[in-house]
Amino acid sequence: MSEEIFDRVKLVLGEIQSAQPSNAEELEVFRIKYLGSKNTIKPLFAEMRHIPNEQKKEFGQKLNELKQAAESKHQSVKDSLGTPQKSSAGPSIDMTVPAGDLNIGSRHPVSLVLNHMIEVFARIGFSVAEDREIEDDWHNFTAMNTPPHHPARDMQDTFYLKDSTSELLRTHTSSVQARMMTAHEPPIRIIAPGRVFRNETISARSHCQFHQVEGLYVDEGVSFADMKQTLLYFAKEMYGAETKIRLRPSYFPFTEPSAEMDVWLGTETTTAKKLTKGTGWLEVLGCGMIDPNVLDNCGIDSKLYSGYAFGIGIERSAMQKYNISDIRMLFENDNRFLSQFSSAF
Ligand code: PHE
Repeated sequence: MSEEIFDRVKLVLGEIQSAQPSNAEELEVFRIKYLGSKNTIKPLFAEMRHIPNEQKKEFGQKLNELKQAAESKHQSVKDSLGTPQKSSAGPSIDMTVPAGDLNIGSRHPVSLVLNHMIEVFARIGFSVAEDREIEDDWHNFTAMNTPPHHPARDMQDTFYLKDSTSELLRTHTSSVQARMMTAHEPPIRIIAPGRVFRNETISARSHCQFHQVEGLYVDEGVSFADMKQTLLYFAKEMYGAETKIRLRPSYFPFTEPSAEMDVWLGTETTTAKKLTKGTGWLEVLGCGMIDPNVLDNCGIDSKLYSGYAFGIGIERSAMQKYNISDIRMLFENDNRFLSQFSSAF
């Protein structure tokens, strides 16, 4: 009986010695079989009670040998397979790799042109005045000699707020003229840059929002010739010393006489052709001598003072300067477009 048990121990020892786990999975099978909680060695310990007393010691030693054989086999195979990478360690980080480029923004082309205009006018004594985009009817229209039902209101299709007819998105920066003249005594010499809104169909040439720079000069004895000279100076600073301008008679309710100023771009480039509708002349601004009614509406004595005003569209100049043929690109905020502009005019 005890012989048989000794033989079983020998058999298991043989199995352990000849086992050749060749990968992690096979090693795990080995571990479970000989070292796991339900291993095949354990039941042999229970056989102890069938072993005669004088052999008990020897049997115990054999079983310990068996256990040690299994343990040392497991350890040596494990060592030879190498330690697998611990997945919890995560990817290794190389702290010496140089950092990627920072994405530094650039100025919007409208801002570039606007800032340049501010600088050009600052040189001849114009300071900057800014005011609200949400205006009331009086400052946007009535004070500017455009009473309710005046046909000129149709020229500028207005966005009214809610149901109110008195709160609106300003249709031009001329509203700042009224704000300035009601708040200050002449002499007044300002430019007012800002965003304006008109309910217009959006196309490559026009948008429902755009920017203007309003100019206003009120003093004693201001003449049309003063205005013309100022605008010629502006055109040369913006478009080059050789720039030609022309003033075409026009109509605005708040100026008398009124004119529109064009600059000669020619028809050589496709952008110039597109912007000038093939005429070579780019319409840059509206201007005129401030209508005496406007001065009086704003509390300035039209018998003592006169003045001129102008309103420059910024987008067209930006499009001409940077060869942009579609105004919509200026409002889409597409980084592929915007990142092409540097921070200098
Ligand atoms: N406000 C006019 C416009 O938006 C431009 C203008 C301003 C004309 C000042 C004359 C004087 O078209």
